[in-house]
Amino acid sequence: MKKVTVRTLAKYKENGEKFSMLTAYDFSTAKYFDQAGIDVILIGDSLAMTALGYENTNQVGIEEMGIFTKAVARGVEHAMVVTDMPFMSYTIDIPSALTNIGNMVKKGANAVKLEGCNDYILKLIECTVNMGVPVMGHIGFTPQSQNVIGGHIIQGKTYEATKKLIKQAKELEDAGAFSVVLEMVPELPAKDIKDSINIPVISCGAGRYCDGFVMVCDDLLGKFDSFTPKFARKYGDMKSLILDCAQKYNQDVKNGTYPNENEVY
Ligand code: KIV
Repeated sequence: MKKVTVRTLAKYKENGEKFSMLTAYDFSTAKYFDQAGIDVILIGDSLAMTALGYENTNQVGIEEMGIFTKAVARGVEHAMVVTDMPFMSYTIDIPSALTNIGNMVKKGANAVKLEGCNDYILKLIECTVNMGVPVMGHIGFTPQSQNVIGGHIIQGKTYEATKKLIKQAKELEDAGAFSVVLEMVPELPAKDIKDSINIPVISCGAGRYCDGFVMVCDDLLGKFDSFTPKFARKYGDMKSLILDCAQKYNQDVKNGTYPNENEVY
């Protein structure tokens, strides 16, 4: 299988082919997602909650994202590896943002994801692409700004709000982003947004008509039980599997059946 690049995703859009993106935070999960043919693997800052047990994404730092990026990148051969730049790692000033972004590439990221769209972010996208790093944009609901937005609120529900998202999507494209994640937007406005730009739009709770689709791996696998968004589909029940395995092992240790004669040196 060939490595997925910005050109692969552009071709998918051109040909009307859909592509898959999943988050992963560790080596073996990333390796299996890669073997399963997932196109893009995102070291999402959702790991703040799913892997680190923080309350929200804003609590994870650049050092932590670097550790998870290294682990995931080591497991991936084919998929594009994208690192989510965490809260405050890219918004203070352009030089420090570029240093942090460059460091994620040194740890194995093929691209970075930046949330939001304003003059500063557009300038940063230009500088990042000029430095040689592809940028995935992220608009609609942007979790790092949840305190400003006032919670997990669906975006683009009015004509004016959709017009604003279309304008932002075009600005991100013009600044040099190779794709845009659209989070929590109703599917008809999302389709209008997707139809108004030439780079792929990735649905994160933005309906069926986007070019790509992303899900958090812990939702897909049924591992994270604190909350599950409406758009997540649970393909497995890892929570039950983990509980079951751990309970059986615990019993076996306590009743003396682990280890047995084949499990000793
Ligand atoms: O952090 C994350 O997991 C994300 C996506 C689900 C798009 O940003």
